[in-house]
Amino acid sequence: MSEPTLLAKELDQADELAPLRDRFVLDDVVYLDGNSLGALPAHVPDRVADVVRRQWGDLRIRSWEESGWWTAPERIGDRIAPLVGAAPGQIVVGDSTSVNVFKALVAAIRMADAGRDELLVDATTFPTDGYIAESAARLTGRTLRPVTPAEVPGALGDRTAAVLLNHVDYRTGRLHDLPALTAAVHAAGALAVWDLCHSAGALPVGLDEHGVDLAVGCTYKYLNGGPGSPAYLYVRKGLQDRFDSPLPGWNSHAEPFGMDPSYRPAAGAVRGRVGTPDILSLLALEAALDVWDGVSVAAVRAKSLALTDFFLRCVAEYTEPGRVECVTPERHAERGSQIALRCPDAGEVMKRLIARGVVGDFRHPDVLRFGFTPLYTGFRDVERAARVLGEELA
Ligand SMILES: Cc1ncc(COP(=O)(O)O)c(C=O)c1O
Repeated sequence: MSEPTLLAKELDQADELAPLRDRFVLDDVVYLDGNSLGALPAHVPDRVADVVRRQWGDLRIRSWEESGWWTAPERIGDRIAPLVGAAPGQIVVGDSTSVNVFKALVAAIRMADAGRDELLVDATTFPTDGYIAESAARLTGRTLRPVTPAEVPGALGDRTAAVLLNHVDYRTGRLHDLPALTAAVHAAGALAVWDLCHSAGALPVGLDEHGVDLAVGCTYKYLNGGPGSPAYLYVRKGLQDRFDSPLPGWNSHAEPFGMDPSYRPAAGAVRGRVGTPDILSLLALEAALDVWDGVSVAAVRAKSLALTDFFLRCVAEYTEPGRVECVTPERHAERGSQIALRCPDAGEVMKRLIARGVVGDFRHPDVLRFGFTPLYTGFRDVERAARVLGEELA
């Protein structure tokens, strides 16, 4: 097999997604932190400037209608829908992921049979999901039961109301089996709620195909929506009439300008809205999503696996055996779009990598995380990152 440096060049030449890199603002740094904050698409600043100067500055209040501000949450939801395998009319964008986890969980519990008194949560979840699940359980008088995703099938039963799972583990990069776990949750008569933060934009999700009930995700990682860009909420069409939001704001009222003192929910995905949308962030996200036009999620997944495979190969080549332990599964079916390596001095190692222009991140206590965004990461970047890592670990 060729030298990694030669191979990287060949792989970049054969990469059909490589031209997309020019659509992003990137410098000489190898940016492997798109699983935390995606890079800036180059056309976004001008679009945001237009929103600020013309839509806000010149049109002012007229923009709610004339610039499509009012309908932006569901319009942008429909732009995200094909990326997560959802038909239109089921996703609304707004609020943070944390807030949407709360809406989804409480709504799921309210849809479950009253006798079901347990809420299962991924014990290894990103902390906010666990905190909110605990609060949702307390508010609805249910018991929270933290279990690992592998333990979910055995923990399900006629007491289970709903289950909150992560599609990809934020720390290890492990991809969980969404189709099988959703089917198991349904077989037990419960509802499946998925957190897609680390999968949307990196791999196929298939929300409709696999009958997921509710899902949430952020837009600032692989969707490149910008710091703090609003999250999204998916409610399966067949459940929308029963979606009883714990945060029923005027934006989700059937007649928001009727100023009715009593609440009547709107039909469809709009029911997931709460208050006035965060227009500047929302429209920055809408602009950022343009880079996805004509891009197939299957091609993104294929490249993501090729990138992570190549990174593992280069790490094996450049790093002393036993110096790091890979905690991301080898099997493609269990791997997201990141590689997590464990070593005792991970915090210090990551500082040195960043100083040398290889940007990943550190997760307490001993994990080096490298995220691979197929839209703008190339194979030569991967080779360089692994080489610098090997040098810093030596
Ligand atoms: C898996 C997961 N869920 C939830 C969150 C929290 O998202 P937010 O800060 O938008 O509420 C994050 C943030 O990184 C995350 O990685």
